[in-house]
Amino acid sequence: MTDLVLESLELAAENIDDIVPPVYKSYFDRCPGSEALMSHIDNLVRGKMLDEVLRLVMKESYEGEQQYLDFEVNNHKLAYSVEPHMYGNLLAALRDVIRDAAGDGWTDAHEQAWDDRIALLTSEITART
Ligand code: HEM
Repeated sequence: MTDLVLESLELAAENIDDIVPPVYKSYFDRCPGSEALMSHIDNLVRGKMLDEVLRLVMKESYEGEQQYLDFEVNNHKLAYSVEPHMYGNLLAALRDVIRDAAGDGWTDAHEQAWDDRIALLTSEITART
């Protein structure tokens, strides 16, 4: 069966060239403090980070990502002072941008699939914060 999160990303990709600026704008608007944390980070590194977030969001299971999540969540906490609530805000900001870009193709089933995926990934992350 087609993964609806993946399908929504494909729909969005038809309408948007570069999702990096809108995702971070949406994220910073929604999450006070996050812009200051990322103020020294250029678009290239922001793009690399978003690539990794998208790679995770496209997964239906995180069994193969346990070590990666251990490392990144710990590193984000110790090296960058990222707070637990900032992850859910980032994922919600990403979903909002994809929903907007998907336009009429976005359905309640896409909404539900994103809710479920965000809940799963956030629970993996917050268990490590
Ligand atoms: C699932 C969520 C996340 C993943 C997978 C992730 C992944 C990454 C990766 C791979 C990098 C390194 C990019 C590179 O240099 O190649 C990075 C950097 C960074 N991330 Fe995240 N990130 C996530 C969430 C967050 C959140 C919520 C924040 C909060 C603001 C954040 C703040 C930062 C900062 C400040 C850096 C730059 C560190 C530096 O180079 O000084 N990240 N992230």
